[in-house]
Amino acid sequence: MFTILAILSDYLPVVMIHGINENSTSIEPMAQWIREQLPGVYVLNCDIGYDKRSSLYMTIEKQVNELAACINEDPLLAGGFVGLGYSQGGYLMRGYLELHNHVGAPMKRFVSLSAPLGGFFCGKRSTCYKFGKMFTAANFFASRLVYTSFVQKLVGPSNYWRDPKHLDKYARKCASLPALDNARSFSQQKKDNFESVDLIVQYIWYKYYKIELKEKTKCGQNAVECKYYCNNIYNVQTSKMLNTRIFII
Ligand SMILES: *[C@@H]1O[C@H](CO)[C@@H](O)[C@H](O)[C@H]1NC(C)=O
Repeated sequence: MFTILAILSDYLPVVMIHGINENSTSIEPMAQWIREQLPGVYVLNCDIGYDKRSSLYMTIEKQVNELAACINEDPLLAGGFVGLGYSQGGYLMRGYLELHNHVGAPMKRFVSLSAPLGGFFCGKRSTCYKFGKMFTAANFFASRLVYTSFVQKLVGPSNYWRDPKHLDKYARKCASLPALDNARSFSQQKKDNFESVDLIVQYIWYKYYKIELKEKTKCGQNAVECKYYCNNIYNVQTSKMLNTRIFII
């Protein structure tokens, strides 16, 4: 965790956002640690929804809008900030960057910790970390149901659920990731926003998953089936080589 301090230490404010089934309290120890290590750096730890389950049952669109409200209601961020998202929070930060950066306070640097930036999928043999048994038990039905508008509106993570065996359906019906990837239609604005940060840093935690290092570095998320879909982490039709650093921890 030494390097993260170097990455955060430009004295820009830091905005943090938590993952699934968490609230800001869950990552407050890290916020405190950053405040102690980098005195003078303003750290804002945002919250999504009403309680921890909101992160699971609110659509990603609503969650990104709440993150945007948290960021833009704070005048101290108007000059720019470093976005630091944990797990699903990293995905929400990506959403903010692509959808809000040109109108809201600008994210200048993007750091994600174990975030499903390239989507998420649990296959038949894998357990779904934090998704509990919901998807594993329903695995047989999941591929039929996950892209229905009912599930897309009910379960936030379904909005970036990337089923490698149903990529057509995914591209057409999945609410968030194909849109962020510019896969359904091309948006120059999203691409420009994505390229506006000076650095993208991903910390990938691979401990749970026994996949080849090669795949892990490409993946952006710890998923056993990542070899099917992680060839391009962002897929934002980017022309410029982004300054990206990946740390495996
Ligand atoms: C987060 O959830 C816990 C309960 O799990 C609660 O005690 C705490 O107050 C919540 N924090 C916030 C900021 O709502």
